[in-house]
Amino acid sequence: MSEKQFDVVVIGGGPGGYVAAIRAAQLGFNVACIDEWKNAKGGPALGGTCTNIGCIPSKALLQSSEHYEHAGHSFADHGIKVEGLGLDVAKMLSRKDTVVKQNNDGIVYLFKKNKVAFFHGRGSFVKASDAGYEIKVEGAAEESITAKQVIVATGSNARPLPGAPFDEENILSNDGALRIGAVPKKLALIGSGVIGLEMGSVWRRLGAEVTVLEALPTFLGAVDEQIAKEALKAFTKQNLKIELGVKVGEVKSGKKGVSIAYTDAKGGAQSLEVDKLIVSIGRVPNTIGLNAEAVGLKLDDRGAIEVDEECRTNLPGVWAIGDVVRGPMLAHKAEEEGVAVAERMAGQHGHVNFNTIPWVIYTSPEIAWVGQTEQQLKASGRAYKAGTFPFLANGRARALGDTTGMVKFLADAATDEILGVHMVGPMVSELISEAVVAMEFKASAEDIARICHAHPSLSEATKEAALAVDKRTLNF
Ligand code: FAD
Ligand code: NAI
Repeated sequence: MSEKQFDVVVIGGGPGGYVAAIRAAQLGFNVACIDEWKNAKGGPALGGTCTNIGCIPSKALLQSSEHYEHAGHSFADHGIKVEGLGLDVAKMLSRKDTVVKQNNDGIVYLFKKNKVAFFHGRGSFVKASDAGYEIKVEGAAEESITAKQVIVATGSNARPLPGAPFDEENILSNDGALRIGAVPKKLALIGSGVIGLEMGSVWRRLGAEVTVLEALPTFLGAVDEQIAKEALKAFTKQNLKIELGVKVGEVKSGKKGVSIAYTDAKGGAQSLEVDKLIVSIGRVPNTIGLNAEAVGLKLDDRGAIEVDEECRTNLPGVWAIGDVVRGPMLAHKAEEEGVAVAERMAGQHGHVNFNTIPWVIYTSPEIAWVGQTEQQLKASGRAYKAGTFPFLANGRARALGDTTGMVKFLADAATDEILGVHMVGPMVSELISEAVVAMEFKASAEDIARICHAHPSLSEATKEAALAVDKRTLNF
């Protein structure tokens, strides 16, 4: 067994870990990153959940399925005739795999460029000593690494439904949901959160009859109510069947598919027979195999690694970031924490502003937001002004043929400072950046309203919503 000494060891090569490793190397540290993810051939596949079975493959399939839906339903409106439209699911999945591999390979290149040593295998704590933390890597060979600074970025795993473990054949996690070989005739999803809506959209567009069963009585409870209502209207129109307030009972998987017993919102006993079931009821922090006990690394009651605001754990020199700690489970949040920790280790003042982390749901219409919702402002008693602008009145949206949704601004009643921006509509995943920048610079709604926006562009809806805060829209 070889032994190696580094300044910094990062356990986990997802968006949190690999970005932390690169930033630490940029700052002059001698850095190693350990990641255990294996591709289909058993080789390394850097990028974690995000690259392999999360953000990247889901967006690849969302794009492909949207093209298919447009070709089948929207092209005719543009005067484009499509004859003999067909679907090649195998090709669609292999394109997605190619996109994933491009991202895996990109990180290998970045590690080489930044001189980050990569170890493929599972990293686990052995002991702490004066030399630092000893970490064992179990891969093709067994190695021992020691470092005074350790960043744990071991991510999260899909939460299974009690009594219905994932078999990835009939009962699928996000992993299986991204590689269904043929379009199921009937598909159910449990949980109408982010994965439920994105994966439900993919397979509905490709032809599945999709039902989403959600425990809560409210649709997308964390989203601004007005925006969530608009989104629900759009999804219902697309025939994405969403049942709220259900209580899922027995789930049985057999040769013919899956049967799900549940109680509906009115208390009625229901059952649903489907070919496949995707369970998307949240994710659990992953510390499996880390041997946290060996060094006394403290976990909280959810199994997440306990950290302070600056991602410090209870152990000196041990930090934790991303999905394995508190806060939203988002790739860009993990990345920001990784950069901030590397900078703190170098004596700089890394900072993550939790109030300006954007959220995006990549459905059609897309949903995006930053800052506080109207219901949060009401609950906190803060006096605010609201302004909305519908894409229906936006020239570019009309030209695109997609006028669903709106942009909504919430600003302080007295100072006009932007407190939250909420969007549902075309390409709002891109539009939300302007709102994030504005909030980081503590802009007022009037600042956005006075900035020149290109015409015709969807971003004019952002400007108009900012004007609406002062009740002076120009085009509505
Ligand atoms: P992960 O990406 O989970 O990476 C952890 C890595 O650590 C993995 O490679 C794992 O193998 C490795 N590891 C774990 N334990 C060990 C060990 N002991 N030794 C060695 N290696 C270990 N977020 C967004 O912001 N935008 C999106 O569009 C988006 N889409 C998503 C879609 C889906 C279907 C899913 C499931 C998630 C999505 N997310 C999205 C969430 C995003 O994937 C996560 O927030 C993000 O991956 C967290 O990054 P991380 O670095 O903390 O952990
Ligand atoms: P989620 O937390 O977004 O949604 C889970 C949903 O399941 C909730 O609405 C919850 O009420 C419901 N639920 C929980 N238990 C249930 C039960 N027993 N029966 C019925 N419904 C139940 O979790 P999801 O969709 O699994 O995604 C996990 C995380 O991954 C997200 O929270 C997000 O952080 C990340 N993600 C981000 C994406 C993005 O940024 N676009 C895309 C996909 C995932």
